[in-house]
Amino acid sequence: MDSIVVTGGTPLNGQIAIAGAKNAALTLMPATLLSEEPLTLTNAPRLSDIATMIALLQSLGVEVTSMQDGKVQVLSSHAMTSTTADYEIVRKMRASNLVLGPLLARHHQAIVSLPGGCAIGARPMDIHVTALEAMGAEIELKDGYLHAKAPGGLKGAKVPLRFASVGATENVLMAATLAKGTTVIENAAREPEIVDLAKCLRSMGAQIAGEGSSTITIQGVDRLGAATHPVVTDRIELGTYMLAPVFAGGEVECLGGRLDLVGSFVEKLDAAGVDVTETPGGLKVKRRADRAKAVDVTTEVFPGFPTDLQAQMMAMLCTADGTSVLEEKIFENRFMHAPELIRMGADIEVQGGVATVTGVERLKGAPVMATDLRASVSLILAGLAAEGESTVSRIYHLDRGYEHIEEKLSAVGAKIERISS
Ligand code: UD1
Repeated sequence: MDSIVVTGGTPLNGQIAIAGAKNAALTLMPATLLSEEPLTLTNAPRLSDIATMIALLQSLGVEVTSMQDGKVQVLSSHAMTSTTADYEIVRKMRASNLVLGPLLARHHQAIVSLPGGCAIGARPMDIHVTALEAMGAEIELKDGYLHAKAPGGLKGAKVPLRFASVGATENVLMAATLAKGTTVIENAAREPEIVDLAKCLRSMGAQIAGEGSSTITIQGVDRLGAATHPVVTDRIELGTYMLAPVFAGGEVECLGGRLDLVGSFVEKLDAAGVDVTETPGGLKVKRRADRAKAVDVTTEVFPGFPTDLQAQMMAMLCTADGTSVLEEKIFENRFMHAPELIRMGADIEVQGGVATVTGVERLKGAPVMATDLRASVSLILAGLAAEGESTVSRIYHLDRGYEHIEEKLSAVGAKIERISS
């Protein structure tokens, strides 16, 4: 199994190009199931999660042509062969559940295994199921699979979500584009990936209003057509690389970065003593003093602080001046990076969903183990600031969400290498 070795202490200077968003691509790709005509995605990220989604779509009969080393994906659902999303693929990635809404909408049936993905909590699907049932779907759980049908097609409805789930909003949004009549999603998630999905669906011919707010209104149409859509910038990859110079020193410009994607995160960086400047190409980041300052962070739905940047922020606060309190409100069990950071000399106390981090002067390199996608990258970042060498093992999680991480970080001066074994 591959591992990554990082030697800390070298300041980082230069530019890092931010890729298209994994989480946007993972909902844009299943949108192809809504149309017989091709969907072309540009600025797609090159990640193992994308390869998993390609495998899932191909298992349903979707033709996928990758071009420009995977940056362009052409998806065509004109000759579908199946409406069953098999456990063997779905267990690798929770986002596989995003085929449910589109399959039901166009084929009036779907059998979708309950998902796997990162082990960061129970992650049930009740919100997706209740919402699709409100649109007329009949859904039963049998042998670990959701068996869903909508005889005669889905119907527009008022769909209030008990929590602003990202995945449930995406599933309902896609499903509603082909439903009969008007669907109103209440308490919809407002994440930029949802805005990006709505834009793409609109290019395919869907009638959607209100994306980016808590109420999205969709007027169903008979069919959707072809479209070409550029995937929005990955705000989590952006936030991760924005933190790199805070750990290591130096100044890094993240190309493609936009303030509106990372507003609440930038507010916390400012409070921690980090300067973020807009440039013509993106965002430039530099810490104001040798040490960042402690700040308290609570994860929330967008536009609040993203749970997917919590691990990286915690790692940064391990060497900040003072004591920080981090509260995780989106997922239970999302502090699995804490014991690994403690192995590197961090002072962290976890009680339920609250972690108290007291900054130490310096972390020390250690062998550590990645436990989920964002935890993995937090350990790499910690390694950039630590004294000596850190070896991060089980990095297959990392390849799910970060393309060419060693190349991107070594290009700005980091001492980092992948060891294959
Ligand atoms: C998406 C992101 C993930 C991010 C998360 C929260 C993708 C592919 N993944 O995941 O990176 O961390 O948003 O920003 O876009 N829940 C239920 N019942 C449901 C659905 C969700 O109880 O039916 C709970 C989950 O267990 C979790 C919370 O709601 O505690 C948030 O989940 P949700 O917003 O649905 O996240 P995902 O779409 O799975």
